[in-house]
Amino acid sequence: MVTLKINGKEHQVDAAEDMPLLWVIRDIIGFTGTKFGCGKGLCGACMVLMDGNAINSCQLPVSLAVGKELITVEGEQENLQRLQKSWEKFNVPQCGFCQSGQLITATALLTSKANPTEEDIHNAMGRNICRCGTYQRIKNAINHSVE
Ligand code: FES
Repeated sequence: MVTLKINGKEHQVDAAEDMPLLWVIRDIIGFTGTKFGCGKGLCGACMVLMDGNAINSCQLPVSLAVGKELITVEGEQENLQRLQKSWEKFNVPQCGFCQSGQLITATALLTSKANPTEEDIHNAMGRNICRCGTYQRIKNAINHSVE
C-alpha cells in the first residue's frame, strides 16, 4: 500500500512499489488526462508535476513519488489554469493527445520563471513531442499567458 498526494488529496493505493507512477495515476486513481505515449521517457505525454518539476511518470516507480506533491492536468494550480485558458484561446490542440504533457511542462516553466524568453520556451518545451506539429500555437499560448 502506498499513499500519494495528487491534486491536493491523499490517495491510498494498492500497487507494487515498482509500478510506474503513470499506471497508478491513470488505472488505479483514474486521472486519465495523463497519457501513455512511448513508455520510454521520450515523448512527454505522461508528464505530471512533482514538487513543481515536470517529470515523465512512465519512468518513475511509484515508491519514489511518496511524500511528494503531485499535480496532473486535472489539478488546480494557478499557472496551469492560466495556461489552459490560453490554450483554449489559441485553439492549440489538434488531436490533443500530447497536450496534457505540454501543459504540464509549460506550467513547470512558468512556475520557475514568470517571464520566460523565447529561448527558455524553446528549451523547456523541447521535452514534449507533438505529432500534429502544434508547436507554434503552443509558443503563442505560453507567450499570451504571461502578457
Ligand atoms: Fe512517458 Fe512517452 S509516455 S515519455
